[in-house]
Amino acid sequence: MDHLSRRKLLSLGAALGLAGVANPVPAWASTGAAAGTAATTGPEWIWDDLADPLMARMLTGGHVPAINTAWASWVDNNDPLPSGLPAEFSAYLGRVNRLPSWADPAKLARAADFNRRRDTYLFMLYGLGSGIMSTVIPREAKSVYWSAGGADMQDRAAKTFTFGYDLSELKAFEPTGQFVVTANKTRVVHAAVRHLLPQSPHWRAVADETIPISAADILVTFHSLGTFVYRKLLDWRIPFPAADQEAFLHSWQVAIHLLGVPDEHIPQTWAEAERQAARVLTPILTPSTEGIALAEELLGLTAQVDLGVTRGFLNEFVRYVLSDEVGDWLGLRRDYAAAALVRTAWPAFILFREGLSPIMPGTFYMFDQFVRALAMLFLNKGGSGKTTPITIPTGNRAG
Ligand code: HEM
Repeated sequence: MDHLSRRKLLSLGAALGLAGVANPVPAWASTGAAAGTAATTGPEWIWDDLADPLMARMLTGGHVPAINTAWASWVDNNDPLPSGLPAEFSAYLGRVNRLPSWADPAKLARAADFNRRRDTYLFMLYGLGSGIMSTVIPREAKSVYWSAGGADMQDRAAKTFTFGYDLSELKAFEPTGQFVVTANKTRVVHAAVRHLLPQSPHWRAVADETIPISAADILVTFHSLGTFVYRKLLDWRIPFPAADQEAFLHSWQVAIHLLGVPDEHIPQTWAEAERQAARVLTPILTPSTEGIALAEELLGLTAQVDLGVTRGFLNEFVRYVLSDEVGDWLGLRRDYAAAALVRTAWPAFILFREGLSPIMPGTFYMFDQFVRALAMLFLNKGGSGKTTPITIPTGNRAG
């Protein structure tokens, strides 16, 4: 907590809706299944026992280019495993490429339907909220910047959109959906990064850890995505019935499981998730050289697509969803006229759109175009219009 004073922390937490921090409970103490064991075997000491040693062998054995070629056509959940993979890699996929036994098809179907009904808000909150928040999560920003993908942020952003898109797809978890495959590919990419990044002198010079992407880090990122979006939907008074809330959480629980986080560390309720986020996400948010550069790239990507708004509006929207503090850290230039517009017209837009107010704000069409264009950016997978394949890196960013 060296960067943030307690007061600042509370105001940042309040702005993000992730407040209630600064009690002396150990960061990963859990009220869920893992309670009591967190102090010694907490998720900050867990990486991926299955995938990490395998990917170290695949990288040192020079097998990764062949895997990337072979799995390009492996897309749908019910696609057979591709041929041409090393036997032990195939065996690993055969073992993990399935939903956990506790996955509830009814909840997953409801989550998919919820994602469809709420896609405009979700895309916007994931894209401009979580996406930019990831740049002030220092470990994530430094890993992403110094990994191979960091050199081409637009391509990387498109791939990250793929994750959000596949998770939001109507049939995401069904046999014809793609989410199980996307999550498994991502898990393997993370395992490769754990082997590669420690070899980067640039990453080692700025990192406060020796191996990146622990289970704790993945949970932090989940909070910046799922927990953050959950809180914003409630704060914005968007109708969010209990069954939708439960289904949305369930889809994230399955996603985190597929990314390799042990089940005992996955929050069981939104209340537990929010308590954890207040302890492990809000206090660690801080700017870094890498994060500032990444935020500029990400906002540049969104600014390239015609969202019907100016860059000043985009900056102010980010400030609105993430707080002025985060906006200042990232050096987002102020546009006070746009700020006033966002703060008054956005709530009015939601009320009207949700049928909670009969008064259509004069700016309705501008906002409508904005949310639709952002959704299209996701649906087009970063504006390219084509699927962006997830590939395993074989090296790091050069410098
Ligand atoms: C790659 C999603 C957590 C760092 C990826 C990719 C996806 C993804 C879809 C593949 C895209 C690509 O090939 O670039 C997620 C999700 C997470 C999560 C949904 C948690 C819920 C994290 C965390 C870190 C991290 C906690 C670091 C602290 C990286 C890096 C890459 C990557 C460095 C590789 C980029 C490259 O190709 O060089 N992640 N991630 N991720 N992720 Fe994650």
